[in-house]
Amino acid sequence: MATATETISNLASSTATLRLRRQAEGENKPTDGPYRYAHLLPHFSADRYPLLEPFDHVDPGVRALALPSPRAFLDNATRVDELTPNLGTEVTGVNLAELDSSGRDQVALEVARRGLLVFRDQQDFIDRGPDFYREWGRHFGRLHIHPTSGHPAGYPEVHLVYRDANSTFNFEIDESITTTSWHSDVSYELQPPGLTTFFLLSSPDTGGDTLFTSQVSILRRLSPQFIAFLRTLKAVHSGIEQADFSRSGKRGATVRREPVEHVHPVVRRHPVTGEEALYVNRQFTRRIVGLKREESETILKFLFDHIDKSADNQARVKWRPNTVVLWDNRITAHTAIVDFKETGERRHGARITPQAERPIPALDGLDLSA
Ligand SMILES: [Fe+2]
Repeated sequence: MATATETISNLASSTATLRLRRQAEGENKPTDGPYRYAHLLPHFSADRYPLLEPFDHVDPGVRALALPSPRAFLDNATRVDELTPNLGTEVTGVNLAELDSSGRDQVALEVARRGLLVFRDQQDFIDRGPDFYREWGRHFGRLHIHPTSGHPAGYPEVHLVYRDANSTFNFEIDESITTTSWHSDVSYELQPPGLTTFFLLSSPDTGGDTLFTSQVSILRRLSPQFIAFLRTLKAVHSGIEQADFSRSGKRGATVRREPVEHVHPVVRRHPVTGEEALYVNRQFTRRIVGLKREESETILKFLFDHIDKSADNQARVKWRPNTVVLWDNRITAHTAIVDFKETGERRHGARITPQAERPIPALDGLDLSA
């Protein structure tokens, strides 16, 4: 059986002959010849990382609040479409890569307000490469280095998703009736991510969309009495299962930092907008602290089912070449949709994941010690 390193190396050499079915529209869909983004294929180093240290996060969206026109970055947009009333705005005609520091602050505020921004025609951004990705991401916070995922060689801060006809390097559970897996990225960290940037370098002809939901409107659907109760609760988020997945030999079989568990409020408050959002997710939230097991399981199952079922809080991003998506990981959840396995097409994406503040409880004074 090939090792992960051998698999990656075989992958890089075989991509020249891998024929994708779609036309070369947008120029990032190779049909023949070397893969344009071969230098960004997943690499699994044997590096080991120490546990993350706490740091002070200053949210760039706060700076934009003081501006006379905090949405000025949209002035030259040729199109701005609201995806749904609850979250998501699609923007055409703005080159993200050219935004100055103030423009980036404005983007942070708009993402905090809308949960999700979808920018089309961002070939400039994507082709600037991993040094630029890091510089972009550092504007929004300290870059997270994922403990188990693949990254481009030399760029551990760039988290990659990857699937093709022969391999997958994602955290996907096979023994399920659906690939839907709602989550907020790495919510097990003490300071989980805030504004997150993600784009696909290669995508299937159709399928492989990403679903998002607003954890703000998810919360608002509940009754005031129940919300008041949820504000008093805190929950354990765990990275152990994700690490065990890699330790079982999947996804590159690498755990570069020991998994952690942290306690977060069940309802958190956004540091810039002040909005309250539900902060539990099926992938990483394990139990509610202080409740009996059956109580915790029942409440979490109810909340997870609510997130799963309420399409009226969701927005669906259909990828086109050169699309860059930004979301606020504190107030949204998302899931990939793996509905294209049979075609064997390649889906290759990169994520830049700045960490933010330790979640602020909506209930002042909530004790977060476990
Ligand atoms: Fe994710």
